[in-house]
Amino acid sequence: MIPPDFIDELLARTDIVEIVDSRVSLKKTGQNYSGLCPFHTEKSPSFTVSPNKQFYYCFGCQASGSALKFVMEFDRMDFIAAVEMLAGRAGMEVPRSTNVSSEKQQQRKSIYNILDQSSSFYSQQLRHHKEKSRAVDYLKSRGLTGEIARDFGIGFAPPGWDNLYSELAKTNLERQLLIESGMAIEKDKDNTSDDRVYDRFRERVMFPIRDLRGRVIAFGGRIIGDGKPKYLNSPETPVFHKGRELYGLYEARQRNRRLDQLLVVEGYLDVVALAQYGVNYSVATLGTATTDEHLDRLFRMVPTVVFCFDGDSAGSNAAWKALVIALSHMKDGRSARFLFVPDGEDPDSLIRSEGKDKFEWRIDQAMHLPDFFFEKLLGEVDVDTIDGKAHLSKLAMPMIMKIPVGVFRELMIGRLSEMTNLAGDKLLELSGAKPGSSGYQPAIVAVDQPPAEGWDEYSPDEYDGQYDDYYPDQLPQSSDLANKAISLLLRQPELCNIVEESHYTILESAGGCGLLLEIVRVILVEEIRSPVLLLAKYQDRVEFTLLKQLAEQEQLLGIADLPDQYLGVINKLRKKIDEKVSEELKRPLVHKALKDMNEEEKQQLRDLTVRKATNRPMK
Ligand code: UTP
Ligand code: MN
Repeated sequence: MIPPDFIDELLARTDIVEIVDSRVSLKKTGQNYSGLCPFHTEKSPSFTVSPNKQFYYCFGCQASGSALKFVMEFDRMDFIAAVEMLAGRAGMEVPRSTNVSSEKQQQRKSIYNILDQSSSFYSQQLRHHKEKSRAVDYLKSRGLTGEIARDFGIGFAPPGWDNLYSELAKTNLERQLLIESGMAIEKDKDNTSDDRVYDRFRERVMFPIRDLRGRVIAFGGRIIGDGKPKYLNSPETPVFHKGRELYGLYEARQRNRRLDQLLVVEGYLDVVALAQYGVNYSVATLGTATTDEHLDRLFRMVPTVVFCFDGDSAGSNAAWKALVIALSHMKDGRSARFLFVPDGEDPDSLIRSEGKDKFEWRIDQAMHLPDFFFEKLLGEVDVDTIDGKAHLSKLAMPMIMKIPVGVFRELMIGRLSEMTNLAGDKLLELSGAKPGSSGYQPAIVAVDQPPAEGWDEYSPDEYDGQYDDYYPDQLPQSSDLANKAISLLLRQPELCNIVEESHYTILESAGGCGLLLEIVRVILVEEIRSPVLLLAKYQDRVEFTLLKQLAEQEQLLGIADLPDQYLGVINKLRKKIDEKVSEELKRPLVHKALKDMNEEEKQQLRDLTVRKATNRPMK
């Protein structure tokens, strides 16, 4: 039901180490991570997770699989729920259609394959081509060692129009793949004769761009010496979306047992040079400004992101743009910082002249977001005048309100309040938020919208419950605590932002939280602010009656301390789950029953799961 290439993409965007590590304590051992197997009882670790292959394997009980399988087994979720959970983390929407072909998936596979071959070809050329010294000398002149060139898979696209093409395009299919993967360019689409296809990258030093699994998804190619364009990048392809990828992320993960922060720089060579000097946690955007997708990705991996920009005005503008994008990602516990390198330098030149310690000292000194934020705004207004104060609050408040509800946002409002001598409430009022509502958007907005597409009509009577035995835990049931949380969300959907996503992930391992988590997901994905709209989402669902009851109950709740109440409930839920999980881990192989099923039973199970997830009656 869920298209295979979606699953593929989902796994490419999911990091199994992150998933497993949040549930099982792991240690880095060589290339892999290991820990005590959660699926059988053991005293010494035989459970390994491979970041390269993106799967886990237990030498003790032979449990193995992908991140998806792990979530299904460990959190005892069904397939769809696990997909949805991972998709939620990756910021992806699960497509519900049926007709996506495995053809597409096949195409992606073939593209990965041809890119991998291209990468090998370029590396080989760097070692063996008769003019290799041009590239080698250039890399040496940039101070790079052979070792770092190897680690980053740097290669050489030799001079000539069709070196790669004539090496790899033996068949018509390969020819097509070289074009689809962006490695070759077809001059004139109407003319199909071979000599009209030529290599995109010629006479360049090649930087392969890898995804988290280490698969090559694109290239950047630098001209050797001076000339234009200095860098040439792969175009958008089925496996490469420029605005999402970060150069060096895979390598940073490889080089660190644990990442605490990531440094975002501008250039390929900055990343490579920094790594060579031991600052091995930097990544580069690919010639684009920082996007929401970048930040999603970065903050999913580390709590601190340091942006590094030139000290000139272009750098300062780019930094401000990054700050604006970062605001909506600033949940409590995260931090964004800004490092400006001296004029005329870049991280590459700086680390060469100053070395690691001095460079890391600079990172330590990087400006915190609030400092950069207010410094910049104070440069635009004269805060000593009344006009200036008014102007400042007008500029600052809409931006501050992009920060998710939480302590950090309150502190920013507090600081603005000090500067303008305006009380926090007054500022909120000016920003368009309701006075007295402690900073949240107006809770009730009249809506007259039909439910979003894709919400199936479902009559609960048509289902006779014959398969429920297979999944006794998964029957729609919602614990009292979860219901309490739901009623708070029905009062103020935005509350779900105060809790870090990881806490919700933990809740997924419990029974009784399914509906709550689904609601949280709906609110986050659709950015729902209005309780009425939230309720409307469920009007055709079996859960509607329960939700209506909860919504009515919610009227009785006090208004003042909603965030505290919500945090309290979530914490209680977490505690319960922590207890439950540690209990269950003591039991061996909870999945035995599932494994013992025959094919037919498994199919029924799959049908049931799909139907449950879509609320569709059985055929
Ligand atoms: P820079 O021009 O700052 O390059 O571009 P750099 O990394 O310092 O390059 P070197 O040190 O001269 O080799 C920063 C980034 O912008 C993108 C590339 O991703 C580059 O790394 N860029 C730049 C392009 O995509 N095309 C270009 O022509 C130039
Ligand atoms: Mn440079």
